[in-house]
Order: sequence, then C-alpha cells, then structure tokens
Amino acid sequence: MTRTQVLEVIGSDRDEQALVDAIDFDRLPRHVAVIMDGNGRWAKSRFLPRLEGHRAGVESVRSTVETAARLGLEALTVYAFSTENWKRPTDEVSGLMGLLKLYIRRELKTLQTNNIRFGVVGGLDGLPKDVQDELRRGIAETAHLTGLQFSLALNYSGRSELTDVVRRIALEARAGTLDPTTIDEATIEKRLFTAHLPEPDLLIRTSGELRVSNFLLWQIAYAEIWVTDVLWPDFRRRHLLQAIADFQKRERRYGGITAAGSRA
Ligand code: IPE
Ligand code: IPE
Ligand code: MG
Repeated sequence: MTRTQVLEVIGSDRDEQALVDAIDFDRLPRHVAVIMDGNGRWAKSRFLPRLEGHRAGVESVRSTVETAARLGLEALTVYAFSTENWKRPTDEVSGLMGLLKLYIRRELKTLQTNNIRFGVVGGLDGLPKDVQDELRRGIAETAHLTGLQFSLALNYSGRSELTDVVRRIALEARAGTLDPTTIDEATIEKRLFTAHLPEPDLLIRTSGELRVSNFLLWQIAYAEIWVTDVLWPDFRRRHLLQAIADFQKRERRYGGITAAGSRA
C-alpha cells in the first residue's frame, strides 16, 4: 500500500495524516506484537462489568487489524488470552471465549476481503470445543490468503511454548530422529508456534504496565518495546501509527555499535 492509499483510508483526520507522513514506508516493522491490556480497568472506570471492557476491546482489535493490513505489515500478533488467564473467575473466562467465537463469526468476511490470513499462536487444543471449531474454520478459510498474517495468541505462554519445544526435541533425540549435537537456534525456532512468521520488531503494551507477562519470550529478544498508558479499549489507529513512527526513530544495534546492524 502506498502512502496515498493509506491517506485515502484515513480521510481528513489531520493528526493521523501527520503521523502517516512521519512514517517511512520502506522501513516498516515486519511483525508487530501487542499485549492488549487494560480492559478491566477501562470497564471499572465506567462502573461497568469487566466483560464490557473486553467487549469494547474487540473494536480496538478490529481497528488495529485494519490499520496493520492497510499499512502493509507482514504480521500482527495480539495476546488475547494467556495460560495464566485461566485463573480468572469462570464467568469472565467463558465471557471471553464467547467473544472470541463472535469475533470470528462477525469478522471472517472482512478478513477475507482484506486478504488477511488468520492464525492462532498457542494451545488451540486446550480451548473449549465450540471455540476451537470456530477458530479452525477461520484458519482454514483464510489459509490461502497472502496479505497480513494476523494471529491471536490464545491459551499461550512463552514458557509453556518453550517447555513443549524442549520436550519434543528430547523425544526426537531419544527416537534417534534428531542428533543432539546439531541443535542450534534454528532447531528451536522451527518448533515454535511462530515458525512461519518473522520475529516481532515492535512489541506494544497498553495500560502502562512495564512487563512482558510471558508473551513470546524467545521471539522478542530484540523487539523494540513501546508502552502506552492508553487502555486497550481506547487504542485506535493513531496509537498504532504513533508506535510505528516512534519505532522508526529507535536505533537498533543488536549488540553491535552502529545502527546499521541489520540482521536480515
Ligand atoms: C486484557 O485486559 C485482556 C485479557 C488479559 C484477556 P485485562 O482484563 O487484563 O484488564 P486489566 O489489566 O484488568 O485492566
Ligand atoms: C497479559 O495481560 C495477557 C494478555 C494480554 C492476554 P494480563 O493482564 O493477564 O497480564 P498481567 O497479569 O498484568 O501480567
Ligand atoms: Mg491485565
């Protein structure tokens, strides 16, 4: 997508236009990962039940996916439910699962129209059967699409992902199908949920928390972290544009001494 096309979509909002102008389209992050946080606080500040915060957060997901696709990003991965989130009250968990189903049902057409390939990062098998069915349908019906790779991280945690990888490698070694002396970073990377994606360049966290909460631990080794106090249900296109504009001002050194240290 060209700058003009992006501007057409953005319309007359001057602040957003200025942000688009500030973005260098040749240096976009390839993969943006987002820890969507603050739904509960958003609801609380309005004297609403927590689930209303999650419901409002769906609109932010929609807006973020649309903007990412229009900008021409390769991948967007959003943390929607961690393995630790099972600790929450059952009505909140089932409410979240219901919203997930609804999201796929309502958005599948739009994802398809926008050439977006949908995926899940995490233990899909551990989700309720009806939710799994809906997600698998979304995955199957967008599998051939070639635009933005949009993934929901669900029933995901970085430590459990890595633990699974270690277990599988050990089993392969025991079975004699893998020579342990050949294990390198690629051996691990190939077995991650994100094996098909570039590593995240930019990690966004909303609601001001300065932690990674077990998200993509291996993958974010060199991601630029951008934290905003904005609560997830208030996150909109301009925030993503701002994050990208700020990302482009960072000097990525990868342990070297110049900004040129591109590992590509
Ligand atoms: C993020 O919002 C959504 C999920 C973790 C499912 P929270 O529900 O964590 O909102 P806060 O952190 O309580 O405000
Ligand atoms: C992180 O948010 C997980 C998701 C966004 C799904 P949490 O609200 O669960 O994380 P903590 O508890 O603040 O670390
Ligand atoms: Mg939270």
